[in-house]
Amino acid sequence: MKNIYSNIFSLNKKNLNNVISYLKKGDVVGLPTETVYGLAGNAFSKKAVNKIYKLKNRPKSNPLIVHFSDLKSAEKEVFLCNNFLKLYKKFSPGPITFVLNKKPQSKIQPQVTVNKKTVAIRFPRHPIIKSIFKKVDFPLAMPSANISSGVSPINAEHVYDEFKDKIKIIIDGGQSKIGLESTVIDLTGRPKILRPGVISSNNIRKVLKSKIYFGKKSSKLKSPGMLKKHYSPGIPMILNQRVFLTSHAFIIIGKNKFLKKNYFNLSFKADLKEAASKLYKIMRKIKKLKFKKIYVAKIPNKGVGIAINDRLKRAAN
Ligand code: TXA
Ligand code: MG
Repeated sequence: MKNIYSNIFSLNKKNLNNVISYLKKGDVVGLPTETVYGLAGNAFSKKAVNKIYKLKNRPKSNPLIVHFSDLKSAEKEVFLCNNFLKLYKKFSPGPITFVLNKKPQSKIQPQVTVNKKTVAIRFPRHPIIKSIFKKVDFPLAMPSANISSGVSPINAEHVYDEFKDKIKIIIDGGQSKIGLESTVIDLTGRPKILRPGVISSNNIRKVLKSKIYFGKKSSKLKSPGMLKKHYSPGIPMILNQRVFLTSHAFIIIGKNKFLKKNYFNLSFKADLKEAASKLYKIMRKIKKLKFKKIYVAKIPNKGVGIAINDRLKRAAN
């Protein structure tokens, strides 16, 4: 399918081969995942990893997630603990990232883990990533495909808006189904959620049958995705609002009888999963429409709502 973008392609045999050859050369590509779109490069390649940091303007202190196709390839790089195996069995491939201890002989580039002994790993579920994994023998370092501290992209056009022609190929895999970044859980000590996601602490507790902790934002910065200012649309956001000015955008949830031009509904059914999948798209749209401020209604703080409120708070900071 032709489109107006010079570097957005659908996945056919030719484009798949191009992606593979870029990755093998240490180049980076934009890829769809079930959570958000990623900027992918060979996690064993210094050239690729440097490119990722440079393109994103990402602080060198913020480590990357390494994406694997299967347990066998992950086991070469990290120690797989019992808690990991239980959660892997239940939730992977899917929207969950595990922080584990790196093996001393690991080939993962030191910058990926910012020279730390731990590494975050994920097994994506998206069929396009799976077809790429069949053709490469290295894992993918893949942060969200946005300039650092901005809103994650959930379709190919969003990735183009971030990097324009600075990346040679973006594969169009449609809208990311989940629309929020993966849950990040640290399993190197007692289980601790560093970034909430659609797989909630309740879901995890049921599997591990133990208390689940939450990472403190202040103390040692374990996961800079926890940085206070993050996921920002670049205009002020004001949360938990009931009143608003008609000149500003208003993000709401649930049934609403007013259909106004400045109302953006995350889910008429007040379905929190649906709300999560629409949030970033709506934030980008509001910015494009040149609203100066975003007011946001109160979002229920349960289940997926916890992850939504986490992103909203950081975006509003
Ligand atoms: O859903 C996702 O996870 C997406 C898709 C593309 O896979 N990726 C993503 O990557 O959100 P990124 O780089 O935007 O966020 C990764 C988060 C950051 O908060 C980072 O600090 C944390 O994971 N992280 C990575 N390695 C870590 C480590 N060794 N210890 C603690 N946190 C880590
Ligand atoms: Mg990110």
